[in-house]
Amino acid sequence: MIADRIHAVEESKSVKMAAVIQELRAKGEDIISFNVGEPDFPTPEPVIKATKSALDQGHTRYALVPGEVFLREAIVKKLKRDQNLEIGIENICLSNGSKQVLYSIFQIICNPGDEVIVPKPFWVSFPEAIKLASGKPVFTESNNGHLDCKRIKEAITERTRAIVINSPNNPSGLLPKEDELKELMEVAKKKGIYIISDEAYETLTYLDKPFIGPAGLSDPKLENTLIVQSFSKSYCMTGFRLGYVVASKEFTKAMAKLQSHVCGNVPVFIQKGALAALENESDIVNHMKNVFSRRMNLAYERCKRIFPGTEKPEGAFYLFPKIDQKILKQFGGDKELAMHILKEAKVAILPGSFFGEEGYLRICFATSDELIEKGFNAIETALKDYL
Ligand SMILES: Cc1ncc(COP(=O)(O)O)c(C=O)c1O
Repeated sequence: MIADRIHAVEESKSVKMAAVIQELRAKGEDIISFNVGEPDFPTPEPVIKATKSALDQGHTRYALVPGEVFLREAIVKKLKRDQNLEIGIENICLSNGSKQVLYSIFQIICNPGDEVIVPKPFWVSFPEAIKLASGKPVFTESNNGHLDCKRIKEAITERTRAIVINSPNNPSGLLPKEDELKELMEVAKKKGIYIISDEAYETLTYLDKPFIGPAGLSDPKLENTLIVQSFSKSYCMTGFRLGYVVASKEFTKAMAKLQSHVCGNVPVFIQKGALAALENESDIVNHMKNVFSRRMNLAYERCKRIFPGTEKPEGAFYLFPKIDQKILKQFGGDKELAMHILKEAKVAILPGSFFGEEGYLRICFATSDELIEKGFNAIETALKDYL
């Protein structure tokens, strides 16, 4: 009764883990969540206010599939300011979260058997969204958790349609270097393929310079770039389900055509809330960045005491320590290690193998300083005989 296409897709591994944790909690266990990739702040007040007021004003009807003009105009201004892109509202199409943006992208670019290069470590939904479009994810190894351009270039074939870049990266928290992005863009242009640039964590960087993606660096006309953006992480709006693509007019037209048969428009009251987020962006983002930057330093210092193979994150809210082989061998692998930490320390973290990178752990520090301290104390105790 269920099609092969659906059988071929795995349920989101992190969602599955969340269900196990919920079960443990229901039994009365006090679990610290270092697993959920979601800011712990409430949605900012101006966003809530604008959403409520939009509902009161009756913005509850069908609307334009690619998005209301007021929001797309605000996004155009943001992209000019942040990445110096000279685009128009026709270059933007909204979706229900960047998850749906990605789903739509692969439906649009993949014919059956077409390949999409997914460098490790990768966010869990990339391969499954490619498979749902009858495409083939082609994984490339990292260089110790960093992007490996050489391997990516070597993986390009006649069937390659795109390369997925996620910067800042979930799970590694790292950003590719500008010259690497330029190099990949050059290859994409030469081969006539897309760079899909997932920029869901774009406002959360800990480097001195502002974030810039591959289009801002070397593809201002969006000939080979599909930018994927989200309101979820940057403005604490995960439950609003709002993301968007920035692409050529030809591409956004195809996306609106597809989505007109799938979901129609993103609710207008959600778009009004999103406009308030962009209008108050500097307050929202600066506050989050300050808090996350402090938490990142705290979590990093604690983490490298236990796992010396921890790199300092450059963005997002994850640590991705490489685990010493000596420790891994005692458990059998990163999944077993994560399970030991869950059972003994009552701290939920995700194994690197969920993200295609065996031998690492993903630790989310989007939680209070107090819980970060408590969680790392518990992990240290649970591993003291194994380090
Ligand atoms: C790299 C990356 N892209 C996209 C998403 C999806 O975000 P949303 O669908 O909430 O916009 C996530 C969520 O965890 C993510 O980590």
